[in-house]
Amino acid sequence: MCGIIGYVGNRPAVPILLEGLQRLEYRGYDSAGLAVLAENGELCIEKSVGKLATLASSLRGRWPSSFLGIGHTRWATHGRPSDINAHPHHDCHCRVVVIHNGIVENYLSLKQRLIDQGHTFLSETDTEVIPHLIEHHLRDGSSLEVAVGRAISEMEGAHALVVFSLSEPDKLVAARVGNAGGVVVGYGQGEMFVASDLPALLPHTRRVAFLADGEIAAVKADRVSYLSTDGSILVKEHQTVPYDPVSAARGNYKHFMLKEIAEQPEAILDTIRGRVRFEPPAIALENVAIPKRRLKQIRRAVLVGMGTSLHAAMVGRHYIEQIARIPAEVDNASEFRYRKPLLGLDTLVISLGQSGETVDTLAAMDEARRQGALQITVCNVVGSQATRIADGVVYTRCGLEVGVASTKTFTAAITALYLLACYLAQERGVVDDEAHLRSLIAPLARMPSLVGRVTQRDEEYERLAHRFFRYNNFLYLARGIQFPIAMEGALKLKEVSYIHAEGYPAGEMKHGPIALIDEEMPVVAIATRGELHDKIISNIEQVKARDGTVIAIASEGDEELARKADHVIHLPQASSFLMPILAAIPLQFFAYHIAVRRGCDVDQPRNLAKTVTVE
Ligand code: F6R
Repeated sequence: MCGIIGYVGNRPAVPILLEGLQRLEYRGYDSAGLAVLAENGELCIEKSVGKLATLASSLRGRWPSSFLGIGHTRWATHGRPSDINAHPHHDCHCRVVVIHNGIVENYLSLKQRLIDQGHTFLSETDTEVIPHLIEHHLRDGSSLEVAVGRAISEMEGAHALVVFSLSEPDKLVAARVGNAGGVVVGYGQGEMFVASDLPALLPHTRRVAFLADGEIAAVKADRVSYLSTDGSILVKEHQTVPYDPVSAARGNYKHFMLKEIAEQPEAILDTIRGRVRFEPPAIALENVAIPKRRLKQIRRAVLVGMGTSLHAAMVGRHYIEQIARIPAEVDNASEFRYRKPLLGLDTLVISLGQSGETVDTLAAMDEARRQGALQITVCNVVGSQATRIADGVVYTRCGLEVGVASTKTFTAAITALYLLACYLAQERGVVDDEAHLRSLIAPLARMPSLVGRVTQRDEEYERLAHRFFRYNNFLYLARGIQFPIAMEGALKLKEVSYIHAEGYPAGEMKHGPIALIDEEMPVVAIATRGELHDKIISNIEQVKARDGTVIAIASEGDEELARKADHVIHLPQASSFLMPILAAIPLQFFAYHIAVRRGCDVDQPRNLAKTVTVE
């Protein structure tokens, strides 16, 4: 959570910081703040509760000339959103300023100790102990980076932070400890940047270096030096990252969420591109360079993720079991990490994440690494922490996803998992005849165009949403491989429209949820053709028998279902393995249009953040 940006160079700092924060606002947006070093040597801090626009308008026309500064958008953990609690925070003498992402888990004891030593605190935050700790460690004349190293070695928890001090006015110091989110250093011409995430840097530079756990960067306009928290010097090279400027902009779309839903045909095509050979059939995954021998040792797979990524993992479990023929389980990463899982050298842990920075998913990966399990991650952000922990990576090639609700990265992740399952089957010799592999791979070729057909029917989904936007409860039902899509449909509706919605396996309905069904509780039933079609049809009958209203997601030509349901959305028929991708899309549109109709902030729903780097 929280967006972090820092700048030191030869251009006015404030517009660069504000623009960077705007690009990071998806990480947190309950308050925002800036601190800059004015040309006259004074420290200027401005912060305000609310969105970045509030800060930007309070700054307009009255900001001193400055070439060094830091900025922050906050997602509150300790202390409610308020001007005082917003970052940056400073020491007793307003000489050290800090922006921070993470939680100082032992802040109460540190704060008490600092108070006993005479320090004064203004906010309710855990972060405020950091400038005071640094102030304490600067007293012996240490450099800022050494004082930062000493301060963070006293702090428990995971952190990303950027600091500057009036005593060393040409320098920013950035640090990363654990998995509280990334820190990226951007290299410009006579200027340098620091940010929590790439989008803030890409308009300025594509030459970047990611800080690893326990690394500190001392950043000046013309050079960067790296050290570890114990003060030893590190040698670190920068890398050049790709950037597609088109995806950074919203274009003609009213919201990023709508744009990103519409981008799915391309995102899926890009995820498949170059990895599939149709004749003779073969799959190649460029970042999975794991020897066949090692892949053949796998006896069990565990898929982990959070939120939407967990739902993608739930679909992936079907692929790994049925295509790769590996016994597979799926777990919420935040539960997995604490349930003392038993893993071994023959376990494959497949982690899912758009950001590659979700704290619980990273902790689950750390646990898997400790126990020697093989790891493959499916991830959208190049160079993120998950991609550095895993033995292999299957990137979803979606470009930036700005809307807080994941859409294109969800369907691309399912596509990537399908590729991975086919790849594992191929490498482990599970599909020994060409015809079998061809039958798995060939359906992929049609997916971008089938997805395109589904995304083009926006008006139909909008009409349906307008019919239902006043309801306050929804039940989403499905079976088998479509069950995770019921969960995902309900999650999308909850997060963007704040309507209560539940996703259930349809077979479970009779065991409780059926008591809820009446004319006030519409039921969205995913009932595309496949193995369990008859079963879900009888669940729909049960809903209708209780005066429930049914919106059915059906396969084209399913007239029987059209007669039973009150409203039907027809989907083109793809291979039954890939139908979840198609079924997810109308539900994304449905949630989007309901939220718009209810006047919700679709791209930045309340209380949410794009990347969850705190527990
Ligand atoms: C929902 C959503 C979240 C994320 C979850 C995990 O639309 O976006 O549920 O899926 O926070 O984030 P990643 O995928 O970055 O690990």
